[in-house]
Amino acid sequence: MKVAIVLGTRPEIIKMSPIIRECEKQGLDYYILHTGQHYSHEMDRVFFEDLELPQPTYNLDVGSGMHGEQTGKMLAGIEQILLKDTPDVVLVQGDTNTVLAGALAASKLHIKVGHVEAGLRSFNRDMPEEINRIMADHISDYLFAPTENSRQYLLNEGIPDEKIHITGNTVVDAVFQNLEIAKRKTNVLEKFGVEQKGYFLTTIHRAENVDNKERLQSILNAFEQIHSKYELPMIFPAHPRTVKMMENFDLTAPEGTQIVEPVGYLDFLQLENGAKLIITDSGGLQEEACIHGVPCVTLRDNTERPETVEVGSNVVAGIGANIMDAVETMIKKNSDWTNPYGNGTAGELTIKKLL
Ligand code: UD1
Ligand code: UDP
Repeated sequence: MKVAIVLGTRPEIIKMSPIIRECEKQGLDYYILHTGQHYSHEMDRVFFEDLELPQPTYNLDVGSGMHGEQTGKMLAGIEQILLKDTPDVVLVQGDTNTVLAGALAASKLHIKVGHVEAGLRSFNRDMPEEINRIMADHISDYLFAPTENSRQYLLNEGIPDEKIHITGNTVVDAVFQNLEIAKRKTNVLEKFGVEQKGYFLTTIHRAENVDNKERLQSILNAFEQIHSKYELPMIFPAHPRTVKMMENFDLTAPEGTQIVEPVGYLDFLQLENGAKLIITDSGGLQEEACIHGVPCVTLRDNTERPETVEVGSNVVAGIGANIMDAVETMIKKNSDWTNPYGNGTAGELTIKKLL
C-alpha cells in the first residue's frame, strides 16, 4: 500500500509528524507532498529540522495568495503529482486550504482520502477553516476523529459510522514524543529573560482577529491591561500574518509584550510548558495547553475544541471586556483536568486502520 501525505503549514507538519514516524517504523511505501502554503524558514523548515522528518518528495511552492488562487494552484499541482505517482490513499490533516486541495484532488481521481482530525466544528461558517473541514470530511473515506464528540458531529451530518475511527489527536503524540527532547535543549526561557511560571505566552494569527484593525487593537489593549494588572511579561512569538497586519495598521507592541519571531517546535514546547497562562486564538495551542496542564484563555467567539472547555482547561473569552475576568479565573485554576485527546497513540492507530 502506498500513502501520500499532503501537508503545507506549520500545524500540519507538527501534527503529521507522528504519522510520518509511524510510516517509517512500519517500513511503509509513502511520500510527503508539501504544497508550500507556508515557506518562511520559521514556519516550515525549522519543523523538519526539529522533528528530524524526511524531506518532502515534492514541493509545489505555491506560497501565499487569495483563497481561490492559492487553493486552485494547489489543486492543479497535487493532481499532477497524484497522476504521476499514484498512491492508494492520500492523508490530509486539519482544516487549511492545503487540506481542501489535497482531499479534493484525490477524491476527483477516485483515490481514497483519509482526514486526520476529522469532525471538528466551530459552527461558524465565516471561518475559512470551517468550510475546509466540512468539505474535507464529506469527501473523505477514512475520518480519523479525535474524540467521541467529533464522531457525533460527523454522524449528525449523515456521515456513515463505518467511515469514522476515533484515534485521539496526533497532537498528543507530538507533545509526548518531543517534550523530553525539548527539555534537554538549551533553555529558551533564559533567552527571553523569563522564569518558570513567571510569564504569559500568547499567539494570535486568526484572519478574523488580525485582519480587522479594531479587533487587533482591542487584543493588544487587553495585553497591556493584563501586564499592568499582573506585572508579568507577555511573550508573543508572532505569526508573519500578524506582523504584516500590525505594520499595515500602524500598531506597535503594547507595554510588557515582547514580540518575537515564531520559534521552532522544541523551543515552543518549553515556552508552553513553562507559561503561567496561555492566551491564544490558535487551535493547536488550545489542545497543547490542555496537554501540558497550563490554563488557556481563547480570544475567539467560538471554538472547535469544546472538549478543552468541558474539562476546564480553556475558556472562550471573545476579544472584549470578558478577557480580564477569564484571565483572573484561569490564572487561579488547578490544572487537575484529564486531557481528552487520547494517550499519544493516534499516529499508530491511524496507520493501523489503513493497513
Ligand atoms: C493558515 C491557515 C490557518 C492556520 C494557519 C497556521 C488557511 C485558510 N489558513 O493561515 O487555518 O491556522 O495557516 O499557521 O489555510 N506568510 C509568510 N510566510 C509563510 C506563510 C505565510 O510570511 O511561510 C504570511 C504571508 O503574508 C501570507 C500570510 O502570512 O499572506 C497568511 O498566510 P496563509 O497561509 O494564507 O494563511 P495563515 O494565516 O498562515
Ligand atoms: N508553534 C510553534 N512555534 C510558534 C508558534 C506555534 O512551534 O512560534 C506550534 C504550536 O506548538 C502548535 C502549532 O504551532 O503545535 C500551532 O500552529 P498555529 O497556531 O499556527 O495553527 P492552528 O493550530 O491555529 O491551525
